[in-house]
Amino acid sequence: MSDDRTLWGGRFESTPGAFQRSFGNSLPVDKRLYAEDVAGSIAHARMLARQEIISAADAEAIEVGLIAILADIESGALVFDSADEDVHMAIESELTRRVGDAGRRLHTARSRNDQVATDMRMNARRAALELSGHVARVLRTLLELAENNTGVVMPGYTHLQKAQPVLFSHHMLAYFWMLVRDARRLKRAYKAADLLPLGSAALAGTTFPIDRDSVAQELGFSAVSPNSLDAVSDRDYLVDLTYACTLGMVHLSRLAEELVLWSTDEFGFITLDDAWSTGSSIMPQKKNPDFAELVRGKTGRTVGDLTALLVMLKGLPLAYNKDMQEDKEPVFDAVDTYSGSLTAVAGMLSTMRVNSDRMRAGALGGFMAATDLADHLASKGVPFREAHEVVGALVLACERDGKTLQDLTLAELKAVSPAFGDDALSAVDIDAVVARRDTLGGTAPGRVAEQLAAAREALARDEEWLAGHGLADD
Ligand code: ARG
Repeated sequence: MSDDRTLWGGRFESTPGAFQRSFGNSLPVDKRLYAEDVAGSIAHARMLARQEIISAADAEAIEVGLIAILADIESGALVFDSADEDVHMAIESELTRRVGDAGRRLHTARSRNDQVATDMRMNARRAALELSGHVARVLRTLLELAENNTGVVMPGYTHLQKAQPVLFSHHMLAYFWMLVRDARRLKRAYKAADLLPLGSAALAGTTFPIDRDSVAQELGFSAVSPNSLDAVSDRDYLVDLTYACTLGMVHLSRLAEELVLWSTDEFGFITLDDAWSTGSSIMPQKKNPDFAELVRGKTGRTVGDLTALLVMLKGLPLAYNKDMQEDKEPVFDAVDTYSGSLTAVAGMLSTMRVNSDRMRAGALGGFMAATDLADHLASKGVPFREAHEVVGALVLACERDGKTLQDLTLAELKAVSPAFGDDALSAVDIDAVVARRDTLGGTAPGRVAEQLAAAREALARDEEWLAGHGLADD
């Protein structure tokens, strides 16, 4: 006879010792699935009663017992016993302690294999939805920054060297579109999780006349899985979700890096709010961008999570294998890391000061109007290669004399090349340089205004999707 902590009954003459239990237990990690487990069990019990596989009275006792267990977990009155192997066993044995034989009937036509897959799919769906809500908040913040700072010019970079001036709004919107793709990936992860495995039992289906469609409907799944072997061994939806988190984190790490850089004395483009900065225990003057650094640093964890998940799945034969118990930690970690990082980024962005003067000053340095000056010469008939050389020599001279291109007079320009027209000085005017990038997707104010309108629409569509899935303003 097994003891009451194992549910596999008569086959065993001895039970695992303390080490085996602690090595094999997933309860410390999967207890987080308690709400999904209870919901799945209630739907399963109701279906069993509808199909007359168990009595209505047993289903009622199960349901009442599970609801009470859920309430007790949430109030803290019920704390799981660490001797239980996993959340499924912990809840089922607690139910049996409370309602007796009815509890022992709950597992009819079910295995922990389809049970855990169902719990994880519900959990992944909810996580994708909640993360989408957090992404939407960052999107709103980026949009507000772009809207509230129209006309602010900053240096644009390639190779982290000053390249051409851009609007700060344009720069913020670049992150906006990046994060719109992250939101889309989360939606896809949501859809990937939206399939009911319950009813596949251990691997081959069940001998009982179950009705899977009604369970799917009750748990809000759009469809039921078509193959029981695949259903209990598929973790692709978790890879999809973790990938969405990981690439999302990679994107946040890029933004975080710019926040770190921009808040240096050398750049000074932004000032992070004190609430989103920390001090030094030894250097009284320090104000460190810890939270941006942490977002950047935590990205490594999620890359590790994704790798762990993929390697765990590699080479696994059908169908369920205990290896799969290792899916939970990386997924939960990736979700928590991404969720926290989105909150941190929203907090930093919505409270930071934008130092538009420093940005503009930065845009005046670095000879960033050089391309436009060369374009000006080319428009006067000078071959572009020659124009490039003329302006290159001008830059060299300016550098030697400690001047910017904007310091040059028309006479000085004409002395270098008679092809410079009377309107040559407008070529180096920094606002004009920006305004001339008037191509679709370019940084000219009119184009950025177009983008802002498109961004508002994209965000509205996103928020509509969230509201349609029961997640209004987060
Ligand atoms: N704790 C297990 C997991 O997360 C539940 C499924 C156990 N199934 C089994 N056949 N041992 O994977």
